[in-house]
Amino acid sequence: MVPPSLTVRAPAKVNLHLGVGDVRPDGFHELQTVFQALSLHDEVSLARADELSLHVSGEGARDVPTDSTNLAARAVAALAERYGLDPAVRIEIAKGIPVAGGMAGGSADAAAALLGAATLWHLDLSRSELDEIAATLGSDVPFSLHGGTALGTGRGEQLIPALSRGEFHWTLALAREGLSTPAVYRELDRLREAGDPPRAGSPDDLLAAVASGDPNRLAPLLANDLQAAALSLQPGLRRTLRAGMEAGALAGIVSGSGPTCAFLCINGESAVEVGSELAGAGVCRTVRVASGPVPGAEVLR
Ligand code: C5P
Repeated sequence: MVPPSLTVRAPAKVNLHLGVGDVRPDGFHELQTVFQALSLHDEVSLARADELSLHVSGEGARDVPTDSTNLAARAVAALAERYGLDPAVRIEIAKGIPVAGGMAGGSADAAAALLGAATLWHLDLSRSELDEIAATLGSDVPFSLHGGTALGTGRGEQLIPALSRGEFHWTLALAREGLSTPAVYRELDRLREAGDPPRAGSPDDLLAAVASGDPNRLAPLLANDLQAAALSLQPGLRRTLRAGMEAGALAGIVSGSGPTCAFLCINGESAVEVGSELAGAGVCRTVRVASGPVPGAEVLR
């Protein structure tokens, strides 16, 4: 029996490799990316109600839209429409993933709401049906459903699970101001028109390093084509990246479209140490420590 309300949690992600190709006719960029899901979560609770409503709490909640443009509301509405149901659900989102931080917080909410509504309405959907709806909501939503480590192609929505051994430890430096994903892609297009910034090559070596479980092997292979664009829009992030390296991280990278900076550390202790150094250096709003890979969206029992 499914109760009349339930809670789903979904993870943040970091792109270990983000190779951005050219713009396609539909305006999206062709990607080759390696996602890893991190132990930083949003929780989305759904309850049957008289009408569709949305409530957001937690850090950065003020910056999350609570109207029909919210990805979680869009997920519930899309599912209801597809199956001819009334989307009368109260959605409550508790944010643990930084808002507009390049860590797929909105996608996590969409994935959680999709899985939650499908469960609440006893739809018993297959993975591929859920994936298909997820991809219509956003490029990162299928990965938020799956979690773990995966190679993403197309606009990021076509996934192949990747082998990962052990646990990787991360420190995340959260920025004071968010960045808009479309603006960062546009900035990359502009930089590429002006010159030809180097592009991330094949992710094959990185995938082998992830499978080996060795953070020392993974560190020099982290790559993000959006980093130059994020740094161009927020030059202060260079200082954050430098401070993380000085604090003892193995490598630092802008997460996705930024502005969160993700630092790979040798172990959990080092991640805490790097976090406290970063917090003390005043180069970010706040820090988080996380590990990965973790599972995708799951209903909490
Ligand atoms: O798919 P999603 O809604 O997350 O994408 C947000 C924006 O990011 C898109 O509107 C587009 O500007 C940009 N984007 C892109 N190429 C991708 C994914 C996203 O240009 N592969």
